[in-house]
Amino acid sequence: MTLAELEIARSQSLAEIAAAGDAAAVEALRVKYIGRNGSIPALIKGMKDVPPAERPAFGKAIQAWKAEVEKALAEKGLGDKAEKAVAADLTMPGRWFTLGAKHPLSRVIEETARIFGHLGFTVADGPELENRFNNFTALNTPAHHPSQDRTDTFWFNDDCLLRTQTSPVQIRTMLANKPPIRVICPGRTFRRDTTDATHSANFHQIEGLYVDTKPVSLADLKSVLAYFAREMMGDGVKVRFRPHFFPFTEPSVEVDFSCHVCKGKGCRVCKDSGWIEVAGAGMVDPRVFGFVGYDPKAVSGYAFGFGVERIAMIKYGIPDIRWLYENDIRFLSQLA
Ligand code: DAH
Repeated sequence: MTLAELEIARSQSLAEIAAAGDAAAVEALRVKYIGRNGSIPALIKGMKDVPPAERPAFGKAIQAWKAEVEKALAEKGLGDKAEKAVAADLTMPGRWFTLGAKHPLSRVIEETARIFGHLGFTVADGPELENRFNNFTALNTPAHHPSQDRTDTFWFNDDCLLRTQTSPVQIRTMLANKPPIRVICPGRTFRRDTTDATHSANFHQIEGLYVDTKPVSLADLKSVLAYFAREMMGDGVKVRFRPHFFPFTEPSVEVDFSCHVCKGKGCRVCKDSGWIEVAGAGMVDPRVFGFVGYDPKAVSGYAFGFGVERIAMIKYGIPDIRWLYENDIRFLSQLA
């Protein structure tokens, strides 16, 4: 090739690159001119056959051409990266990022907040470290009550403990507000329980409290819990009250949901009874109103408290409470 021929090839190559309409065309020109078997490397290889006198001028012209081709390709947006860009096979499966999901306990808490939100309840919060007054005294629970015992409760000193229930948030809420009050209080609670399939020393409760200057009745409580049961467990789930005792409610009840698995006929989940115990509840004891400075003759209300783990276990069919704390992805991802 003469220098004149080289000049023709040069301007032709630049015109071709300028006219290339897409990445594939640019890549084809890259291969044609500067690829391993392209015409410029071939010319460089052939330099040894060029008469020595002409070599410097010829070499310079080829290097200049190569630089121009590279620049023109780069301006087309591929340049050096062209090889890599084309090597990416878009039909290959991508890299998978594992997305996390909400923990079943968080889901029950959020779902509960949503359901009670429809009824005008807001979410109240309280500390896990409580004092005796909020956790026991103002909840009408005397010092000799077994729940105050050191063998049942984690005490730090005479006045300070890890709360045994979310009920102290009732007291905090009433001390800080005037009726009407409509709150739910989800949170962590602690008892000196030995951990087994259905007990844990650390678990979660959701408290509910409604206090008003209008008369509030047990029927109001039942209808609200029935609505909650249907929303949380599905249509057709019924609620039943059984008489019970709690120091801070009078009358007090234990609340059962009809078994959502067998629809009340009796199965393994409900231990053949057709019912599953989910909560404690009742009408706020007038003595509790006295402790927070409300006039027991002027206000009335109901309260309830249920175990978050319990709801999660029956809703998702989880047989062992410990699975909720082990962070085993094989278990958690089944509920996602
Ligand atoms: N705090 C009770 C418990 O841990 C549950 C409970 C019962 C809460 C009755 C209430 C209630 O608000 O009215 O066993």
